[in-house]
Amino acid sequence: MSIENIYPIAMMTRADKEALLRQRGMMVWFTGLSGSGKSTIALGVEKALHQHGILCRILDGDNIRSGINNNLGFSAEDRRENIRRIAEIGKLFVETGIVTLAAFVSPTEEYRSMARRIIGEEDFKEVYVSTPLEECERRDVKGLYARARRGEVKDFTGISAPFEVPVNPTLTVDTSQQPLEVSVRQVIDLILKYVSPQK
Ligand code: ADX
Repeated sequence: MSIENIYPIAMMTRADKEALLRQRGMMVWFTGLSGSGKSTIALGVEKALHQHGILCRILDGDNIRSGINNNLGFSAEDRRENIRRIAEIGKLFVETGIVTLAAFVSPTEEYRSMARRIIGEEDFKEVYVSTPLEECERRDVKGLYARARRGEVKDFTGISAPFEVPVNPTLTVDTSQQPLEVSVRQVIDLILKYVSPQK
């Protein structure tokens, strides 16, 4: 690779990066109870879009709460800080032109509107994974609902801590009412409207 014209020195813009990738960056913010299917849908969306030539980045508990946010718990204050950092990190991905999928309980309007404000209205789409508590508890993938019922996990969302239903989500999907593929398809349709008219 020969270095040609780097003068005058200037930062490559978001538009430059989006042109390089031939896609637009955006944030799809999944909110819903633990076990509602947020990460599973995000994984399905990422795989399908990747096969379609669209670059994605998933942010979820697995890569955020175990790493950069491993000093945070589940008090209201810690959840707010969790969401604030995720939104700031997400914004960097969005501004790099990447379709960013954030899957976090994000249980209150306040946290979600903070995320929206940090990322910017234009780039932020909220997906409410509305799978009811009874179904999430029946699945109890991590055994946390049973522990919360026994009082062994405090401030557990849906049991002993609040979850505020989103007021005006872009999309609502209930994984107890429709197959995973249908939810994945609905999210992809939402994304394709914004990110890549030519792909
Ligand atoms: S958030 O409220 O701060 O947005 P986040 O999505 O990062 O939550 O983490 C939720 C995950 O952490 C749940 O899916 C569950 O596995 C685990 N967890 C552990 N303790 C709690 C708790 N007290 N409330 C909710 N989730 C918890």
